[in-house]
Amino acid sequence: MVSLVPLMAEDGGALEEIHASCFPDAWDRATFDNLLKENPTCGWMATSLTGDPLGFILARIVGNEAEILTFAVQPSSQKLGVGRCLLKALMNFLTSVRCKKVFLEVAFDNETAIGLYRSAGFTPVGTRPNYYQRTGQTFVSASVMAWTADEME
Ligand SMILES: CC(C)(COP(=O)(O)OP(=O)(O)OC[C@H]1O[C@@H](n2cnc3c(N)ncnc32)[C@H](O)[C@@H]1OP(=O)(O)O)[C@@H](O)C(=O)NCCC(=O)NCCS
Repeated sequence: MVSLVPLMAEDGGALEEIHASCFPDAWDRATFDNLLKENPTCGWMATSLTGDPLGFILARIVGNEAEILTFAVQPSSQKLGVGRCLLKALMNFLTSVRCKKVFLEVAFDNETAIGLYRSAGFTPVGTRPNYYQRTGQTFVSASVMAWTADEME
C-alpha cells in the first residue's frame, strides 16, 4: 500500500536520496530545491503507510505542454506498481489542466521505463544519440517519447 502526495518545496532532500539510489549521475539537493521552487513544476511523492518516501515523479509545465524531468522509485520498492501509480497520478493531473503534449527522454536500454511509458500511451518520436554517459566513457542514446491528448479532451 502506498500513499501519493504532491511534491512540496521542502522535499528536496528526499528526492536527492531516492535519485542517488537509482542513477549513477544523480542530481544534487540544490538542483531539486531550485526545481521545486519553480512554479510550473509539479509532481508526486509515493510514501509507505508510515510516511517513508519510496519514489517520485517530477514534471515541468510550459504552456499547454509538459516534460517529465525525472522519475525514480528506490530499488527495494521497484516492481510493486509504485511507478505505475506515480505516472498515472501525473498524467491524470496533466490531463485535468488541459495539457496537450507530454515529452520525456529515456535511455534506449531502460526496458522497464519504456514499457511503463508505452502502457501510458507514450510513443517514440525521436532519438538523442549518446545522450547519457554511463560509467567510464560509455554512452547510451535516449529515445524521446511523447504523449498526445485525445482531440476530444
Ligand atoms: C522506471 C521505474 C520508475 C519504474 O518504477 P516501478 O515502481 O518499478 O514500476 P512498476 O512496479 O509500476 O512497474 C515496473 C514493472 O513491474 C511490473 N509490476 C508492476 N506491478 C507488479 C506486481 N504487483 N508484481 C510484479 N510485477 C509488477 C510491471 O509490469 C513492470 O514490469 P516490467 O519490468 O516487466 O516492465 C523504476 O524502475 C526506477 O526507478 N528505475 C530507475 C530509474 C529510472 O530508470 N527512471 C526512469 C527514467 S526515464
